[in-house]
Formats: sequence, structure tokens, C-alpha cells
Amino acid sequence: MRVRKARLQDATNIFELVNSLSGDGTLLKRQFAEICENVRDFTVAESETGVFLGCGALHLYGPHLAEVRSIVMTPGAKGKGAGGRVLKALIEEAEEHGIQSVCLFTRIPDFFFRFGFRVVEDKAELPDKIFKDCQSCPRLHRCDEVAMVRGRIPRVSILGPKHEAEQLVRIG
Ligand SMILES: CC(C)(COP(=O)(O)OP(=O)(O)OC[C@H]1O[C@@H](n2cnc3c(N)ncnc32)[C@H](O)[C@@H]1OP(=O)(O)O)[C@@H](O)C(=O)NCCC(=O)NCCS
Repeated sequence: MRVRKARLQDATNIFELVNSLSGDGTLLKRQFAEICENVRDFTVAESETGVFLGCGALHLYGPHLAEVRSIVMTPGAKGKGAGGRVLKALIEEAEEHGIQSVCLFTRIPDFFFRFGFRVVEDKAELPDKIFKDCQSCPRLHRCDEVAMVRGRIPRVSILGPKHEAEQLVRIG
């Protein structure tokens, strides 16, 4: 098995796998066009013969925060180490960008504890995530996901009404 950055040719596999688990809220539903536009966020796992095994994405908010999204393995690939390798690759990618905080929302915190994530009790401590996804989510007031972060909770945010569109944030 190998792990590599996604190419546009992976977009159909990513789209089908991610949306196969969006119906029950395990993963956020994603449009095909959005997958294509953001395909460079994705890392994929594949077999030695090139069979698609799964994917995960690193969304960059800014120098202060990134988010692991859409991490999922095909049913036959689960439990063989691919998910962990994709997650490690995404964490390394964040580190290469100099980002010290990586967040995610999940129903399976036990998986992410193994990779250094810890629970954030108050989701309001991640205002960029709230503004980007939660405000438009049908589960806003009955969210059953746990917020987690690896590294420090960011001291700044860059999305939302209080921020100017052109604002640059300096991370101290
Ligand atoms: C979560 C998921 C990506 C993990 O991928 P995977 O390839 O099965 O995981 P791995 O085989 O790399 O497991 C790595 C370690 O995590 C553990 N683990 C795997 N899934 C776990 C889970 N749901 N809860 C707790 N631990 C888990 C494994 O036992 C393994 O531990 P070990 O190193 O001590 O042996 C995969 O199960 C999946 O696609 N789940 C459905 C989609 C989903 O829920 N994604 C998360 C959305 S936030």
C-alpha cells in the first residue's frame, strides 16, 4: 500500500467514497465540483497495483489552523493501517506549512487520540470551523460530533463577520 497526494483523476473515487458516508452524517457531503476544486487538499491511499483504498483532506484556514476532513477508507481496506498512514501524512503536511494547530470534528475520537488529538470541550474555541461549516449545517443544534485539536488551540481566527475580507493575520 502507498500514500500519495491526490490527482484530479482521483476525484471520482473520492467523491463516491466520501458521499457514501454522508447520508448518516459520518462525513460532510461534498459536491463533485468542490472535490475537483480542492483536490490538492487530498491525500489518497492505494494498493501496489493502484487500486484506490481511501482518502483524507487537509483544509488550510491560514497559518494558525488546518482541519482534517473527509478521512475515509473503503470497507475492504479498513483496519489495515491505511487510515492511520493517511492521517499521519496530513499531519506532516500541516507541519510542512508551519501550522501548529490541526482540528477536526468526529464521532470516533478514540481513533484520533492515537495520533495526538485531544477533545476541545467548547466548540466556540474553533470559530473558523463554526463559521465555515457549522452555521449552515442542519445538525447545528443537535451536533453529535466531538471537536478535537492537535497542538494548541489557535489564539486568532480569520473568518466571520468581525473580520475584514482583506485582513492578514500575523501569528505570534
Ligand atoms: C476511521 C478510519 C478512516 C480508520 O482507517 P483504518 O484504515 O481502518 O485505520 P487503521 O487501520 O490505520 O488504524 C490505525 C489504528 O487506529 C485504530 N482504529 C481504527 N479505527 C478506529 C476506530 N473507529 N476507533 C478507535 N480506533 C480505531 C486501529 O485499531 C489501529 O490501532 P493500532 O495502531 O493500535 O493497531 C476508517 O475506519 C473509516 O473509514 N471509517 C469510516 C469513516 C469515518 O468515520 N471517518 C472519520 C470521520 S471524522
